Amino acid sequence: MKKKRSTSRKANSPRIGVYAGTFDPITNGHVDIAHRAAELFDEVVIAVASGSHKTPLLSLEERVRLTKRVLSKSCFKIVPFDGLLVDFVREQRAEVIIRGLRAVSDYEYEAQMAMANRQLAPDLETVFLMTSDRCSFITSSIVREVARHGGELKALVPPAVATYLKKLLR
Ligand code: COA
Repeated sequence: MKKKRSTSRKANSPRIGVYAGTFDPITNGHVDIAHRAAELFDEVVIAVASGSHKTPLLSLEERVRLTKRVLSKSCFKIVPFDGLLVDFVREQRAEVIIRGLRAVSDYEYEAQMAMANRQLAPDLETVFLMTSDRCSFITSSIVREVARHGGELKALVPPAVATYLKKLLR
């Protein structure tokens, strides 16, 4: 029989999920996943990665500020993080890592990361949420590219993000 998890949730304690990403910038796809997660969890911690594995266009402060503006419902908690995701998830007293899936092409990378995280922290679970069709092609790179060339951002990012990017890249 399967061994009981050592960190099983106490009755009545809130169900907390952590949705992590670089959010450079937050897109309609991220917002879609965050809202889907909010239907399933009492609290969704949006973990904004420092992005040391990338060269972000926006600073960590800018990414946190924009994410807070876009995800303002009380069930969302926006927190910057650095280091291992599993350590951060435990610090937040969460048990679940939330990831968005857009297409089959996401699977290999996501499976690898989920398995690495499981190896590091067997008590945590990764949950995948399928994004809506209209967001399945969006990536932050596409948003940055379109913004740089002055293209229309309406279908890609929330209005506050579009306004901010336009000003920044003017
Ligand atoms: N809608 C739109 N875009 C999405 C999306 C969605 N639902 N889901 C992902 N994306 C985009 C992102 O915007 C990003 O676009 P970009 O590469 O063009 O900028 C791309 O898909 C990759 O996103 P993601 O997989 O979330 O990567 P990330 O770099 O944003 O975040 C971390 C990855 C931070 C969660 C991961 O690197 C991490 O956990 N780091 C900490 C160290 C660690 O513990 N590593 C794992 C164990 S080895």
